[in-house]
Amino acid sequence: MRTQVAIIGAGPAGLLLSHLLHLKGIESVVLETRSREEIESTIRAGVLEQGTMDILTETGVGERMKREGALHHGIELAFGGRRHRIDLTELTGQAITVYAQHEVIKDLVAARLAAQGQLLFSVSGTSIEGVETDKPRVRFMHEGEQHTLEADFIAGCDGFHGVSRPAIPDSKRQDYQRIYPFGWFGVLVEAPPSSDELIYAQHERGFVLVSTRSPTVQRLYFQCDPKDSVDNWSDDRIWNEFHTRLENGDGWRLKEGKIFQKGIIGMRSFVSTPMQHGRLFLAGDAAHIVPPTGAKGLNLAVGDVKRLAQGIDDFYRSASEAGLASYTEQALKRIWRAEYFSWWMTSMLHTFEDASPFQRQIQRAELENVVNSRALSTALAENYVGAF
Ligand code: FAD
Ligand code: DHB
Repeated sequence: MRTQVAIIGAGPAGLLLSHLLHLKGIESVVLETRSREEIESTIRAGVLEQGTMDILTETGVGERMKREGALHHGIELAFGGRRHRIDLTELTGQAITVYAQHEVIKDLVAARLAAQGQLLFSVSGTSIEGVETDKPRVRFMHEGEQHTLEADFIAGCDGFHGVSRPAIPDSKRQDYQRIYPFGWFGVLVEAPPSSDELIYAQHERGFVLVSTRSPTVQRLYFQCDPKDSVDNWSDDRIWNEFHTRLENGDGWRLKEGKIFQKGIIGMRSFVSTPMQHGRLFLAGDAAHIVPPTGAKGLNLAVGDVKRLAQGIDDFYRSASEAGLASYTEQALKRIWRAEYFSWWMTSMLHTFEDASPFQRQIQRAELENVVNSRALSTALAENYVGAF
């Protein structure tokens, strides 16, 4: 088998890269370990920045997002028994859309298949060879047979646990990491929305995020022990925790409903550099992870592949390797700003068990500053919508 770009991983990064390359007349093959059903139903991100909405719309895969996604012009920060609105649109002229990541995946898979794109699901034993030559190869098993896919480039879009990042020798790589001492317990609930906008709530018992998926399905998270098990949490216990952390006696009440999905995610900040080695280029979670508080992970993946598709197009169109050569350097500027923002939001909104009374007061003062200073509210809003 031969193609121009071998793409490992059919997450948002791999699928969007394949779609962008196709629009530029460049062929790719996408290899994915999971089944189509699995990638189209895994519950993950929900917030799309303006730039992500724009690229999906401009490239013809944004129609359902426009119709079914919810455009939000603000978010709320809740602490000390009060809620404070950050008006994203007034402060930045931009907005966000709440539209589930697996819906983006469905739209991209449909577009690739409609264009006769090659997506191979349920592959196994993926391995990468020859990235230091101009004929890199991916070996894998598909439907019981061993295959070798030869390409001009390999795009490692296989997430944090994939095979692409380890294919860059340790001696050439530097990893930066912080693991947080808490996780998020996420639930999907059949209920109407409790709020018109997302609520990021700080409480002494821990952070809560009130998000949404549709007029009838809500997405809620609360800070938990990352080693806890969903089996320890009955529905009653979950609702008690949400009510305690969110309500202050002013009459507003979180609407309950049937909980039909539960899961715990760990939280880390991680950057691996360089994001390229020879003919191998990493994009998305394969190269970097952010804690979810800033809603940046999916959006960063989109930013990476936009840049990578441009570099690959320059290579074929004008034999210029400049875009590809500067891929890591250019991508890292945006990545580190998002790493900073996600770390900042996480630090400001979560409860650190080992925090001293002094640190707790400073954390509260920081929140007061953010909601009372137009400059700081603007900085939060600009980062949140990705306005740079
Ligand atoms: P992935 O989505 O991880 O895709 C990688 C794909 O590669 C997977 O399908 C995997 O099966 C496949 N793969 C792995 N190994 C191999 C292999 N060896 N061979 C072939 N295929 C392989 N981000 C936001 O922007 N906003 C949010 O609101 C947000 N909320 C989140 C909430 C949760 C609960 C979680 C878990 C994440 C959230 N994120 C959010 C982060 C976001 O989901 C990720 O950043 C995003 O999925 C990254 O996309 P990706 O394509 O790089 O990687
Ligand atoms: C969602 C997830 C996030 O991490 C976030 O910051 C906002 C919303 C969500 O799943 O809806």
